[in-house]
Amino acid sequence: MQHRGARRIDRRTVTRALTAAAGALALCDPWAPFPGATTVAAQETRALKDLVPRGWLIGVAINQNQSDERDTAAVDLIARQFNAISPENLLKFESVHRQPDGFTFEAQDRYVAFGQQRGMAVIGHTLVWHSQTPAWVWAGSDGGLADRATMLERMRVHIATVVGRYKGRIRGWDVVNEALNDDGTLRDSPWRRGIGDDYIAKAFEFAREADPGAELYYNEFNLATRPAKRAGAIRIVKELQQRGLRIDAVGEQGHWRLNTPTVAEIDQTITELRATGVKVMITELDVNLLPPLPAGARGQTLSAGTPERRSFVPPENNPYVNGLPDDVQQALARYYADAFRVLLKHRDDITRVTFWGLSDADSWLNRGRVNHPLLWDRQRQPKPAFDEVVRVLASTK
Ligand code: XIL
Repeated sequence: MQHRGARRIDRRTVTRALTAAAGALALCDPWAPFPGATTVAAQETRALKDLVPRGWLIGVAINQNQSDERDTAAVDLIARQFNAISPENLLKFESVHRQPDGFTFEAQDRYVAFGQQRGMAVIGHTLVWHSQTPAWVWAGSDGGLADRATMLERMRVHIATVVGRYKGRIRGWDVVNEALNDDGTLRDSPWRRGIGDDYIAKAFEFAREADPGAELYYNEFNLATRPAKRAGAIRIVKELQQRGLRIDAVGEQGHWRLNTPTVAEIDQTITELRATGVKVMITELDVNLLPPLPAGARGQTLSAGTPERRSFVPPENNPYVNGLPDDVQQALARYYADAFRVLLKHRDDITRVTFWGLSDADSWLNRGRVNHPLLWDRQRQPKPAFDEVVRVLASTK
């Protein structure tokens, strides 16, 4: 029986609310420092996707709870704010092709459908990388490294199958990820050891064959802080171009720290990369606020999987467990504002800026500690950094 004038709340609404609340609780980061934190998203009045320059994509890496639409508060926020998605882990070799004779596509298909249903650009990450790749890919029958022909054929089948499946639906692929050392030389990855230096060119060739319409990217980190590495990336681009292969953009991952790279370094990086003729993307943006771990401490915290282990992180290595002090919060906001100002200066050189994770609770940079690298906090409330990015973007409108 309903009272006159009372807002009618039907059973479906209640069920939906309860389901969302239960989902939010289940998804709460066990390390979250705020007891009772919820993941209910605030309704920001401005959307990044409405404010970025025409032609830019503004993206976010999403995890499986999000692409499977279990994390409903996150899904709403993603759809409101962004026009591109990257898969945080789902399209990596080990996720999609764990066994030699078996591909897994269920969750991957849902990821692609997630973006398509919402009219978002769907990005593929990543085809050829030394990390998150199963050992069988590089293994020879004698227990050593596979020979060139065998490894090339495995690479070709992988790329043909995965890129081919999403032909016309995935806008662009990180074809090769992190092929360089910080000094600009080629990383001694098993791909390179097995195939030779031309493994990069081969990967781009196979990707082009599998979907001639897809954009193809080379993706790397530390390009802004290490000029020698940047020169290495430029060499890779030029070599691909000389071979007549398609390359559309270089992605600087953008795993940055407060005030490093500097604005001048970001500026210079975009200018130099763009001079090759390809576009530039910031593909995995976040700003790490935690001190680098002392040598030796890394393994311990990386593998932290239990509360007991976490207590081994000395407090000086985990200073923001109880929240971000206001001065650091403001410094983060200023750094994001400065970074976006220089990105906007290069608006015609840049095609996409993607954050590596939606909120601080979702970030890979926590890893047993409490980090605050993104624009939304653990309660999925916009931080001052969000307001600053909005202000900078809006000022150019
Ligand atoms: C990270 C994911 O965010 C984590 O969930 C995973 O455990 C490790 O990989 N550079 C990349 C990304 O290209 O694929 C990485 O993503 C972060 C560094």
